[in-house]
Amino acid sequence: MTTQLDFTLDDTLFADICDQLATQGYVVMHNLLPTHVLHALLDGITALSQNDFKAAAIGRAQDQQIVETIRRDKICWLNESMDFTHDYFAWSEQLRLAVNRYLYLGLFDQEAMLAYYAPGAFYKRHLDAFRGQTNRRLTSILYLNPDWQPSHGGELLMYEGDEIEPFQVVEPRFGTMVIFLSELFPHEVSLSHHDRYSLTSWYRINDGVPGH
Ligand code: OGA
Ligand code: MN
Repeated sequence: MTTQLDFTLDDTLFADICDQLATQGYVVMHNLLPTHVLHALLDGITALSQNDFKAAAIGRAQDQQIVETIRRDKICWLNESMDFTHDYFAWSEQLRLAVNRYLYLGLFDQEAMLAYYAPGAFYKRHLDAFRGQTNRRLTSILYLNPDWQPSHGGELLMYEGDEIEPFQVVEPRFGTMVIFLSELFPHEVSLSHHDRYSLTSWYRINDGVPGH
């Protein structure tokens, strides 16, 4: 990826993220991305039509199925050739390089997915990657919901192993980003009562196992 950066980045921020990933495997940050990057995304998302989204499936490749008891979001895969994603991809490329530099994860690229949860949507507890079954190693989720209220629900609940109680409950507020090791944390999206947008990137290693 050769995306040009038009903003400066604070390397201590990336060092901090990597420290937290190394010690606890996840990090929750508010307003990590520059404001103009967030607003470019928001404008772009607002301009998308419902036809740009399709029902989200579970499983991989030919085993994919739409299962409404498990997840009800709609998704749109993003790429760099869409105008509004340029700065996001530039920023997340810097995250990828920093993680490789500090933690030697060997991430070689990312896949980015925008998810829309209409009122009534949720995503039951799941892992993003099962050891040896996908090449996803790191997940980042960026929330793009201005004026989010606690009464809207739609929280990200993060679990440790088989624990019943989440150890982290994250409100999907505009500018909040969660980053975690994909194989480590089961998580779910609680019932959302309001339009909810999240932008997930999965950073992958190159081990010949298909991504999705
Ligand atoms: C996912 C996911 C969480 C969220 O798409 O795999 O877990 O908060 N999304 O949108
Ligand atoms: Mn997930």
